[in-house]
Amino acid sequence: MASHLRLGVNIDHVATIRNARGGRHPDPVRAAMLAIEAGADGITAHLREDRRHISDDDIARLKSGIAKPLNLEMAATAEMVEIAVRTRPHAACLVPERRAERTTEGGLDAAGQRNELGPRIAALRAANIRVSLFIAADPKQIETAAALGSPVIEIHTGAWCHALFDGDKTAAESEWRRICDGVTFARSLGLEVHAGHGLDFASAEIIAALPEIAELNIGHFLVGEAVFTGFAASIKMMRAAMDRGRAKAAGSA
Ligand code: PXP
Repeated sequence: MASHLRLGVNIDHVATIRNARGGRHPDPVRAAMLAIEAGADGITAHLREDRRHISDDDIARLKSGIAKPLNLEMAATAEMVEIAVRTRPHAACLVPERRAERTTEGGLDAAGQRNELGPRIAALRAANIRVSLFIAADPKQIETAAALGSPVIEIHTGAWCHALFDGDKTAAESEWRRICDGVTFARSLGLEVHAGHGLDFASAEIIAALPEIAELNIGHFLVGEAVFTGFAASIKMMRAAMDRGRAKAAGSA
């Protein structure tokens, strides 16, 4: 039987809405608790260098207030490593960050930043934090993640999701092939594989059928969908979509 596919709910954009008015509402910690009640297996939050959504105080409150694992997304900087080592989240996902970008637009260039990443990964691991690298499904990046001692990778699904959304069949097929090959290669190196970025109900159901994937991290779509159905309902519908996809994996195994 295919293993349980974990859902990590990213609550960054609850903080985006809060920060639009500079007050305290809506509180991302309340959203995290609701997400857990609705079936999230963990909570993901990205503390960006410019603090545009999640704040240091949010991270501290998430760490002490939630009953499920906290996955801290962060740039691989000395400041963020210091915060992670002090806060001790369950996991840290290293992501690229460019100030001008609207969101995390591409994967981390692990191969190009080997020398800088090595000590950061070692420091996080020494603090007992499970490290993952957010990378494209590119063999060179995957190989580097394994060589640097990162036990987990998260495959960036943004290009595939964009192609699906745009109805660009050729691009969607080639991105999907890249993801499938990347997952197989990463598993052959002993890496745990996660995926995320831009996923909605349809794409999550498709990717859930890859039995080697252990976790999906999903945020923007769930918060957007909450406007129409409520946050708990959007998470339950996502859980159901993932379960349908995973059932296909079990059926074909
Ligand atoms: N995984 C990682 C590493 C991310 O940086 C993001 C975006 O913050 C996500 C998953 C979630 O992407 P989305 O908000 O598009 O679902």
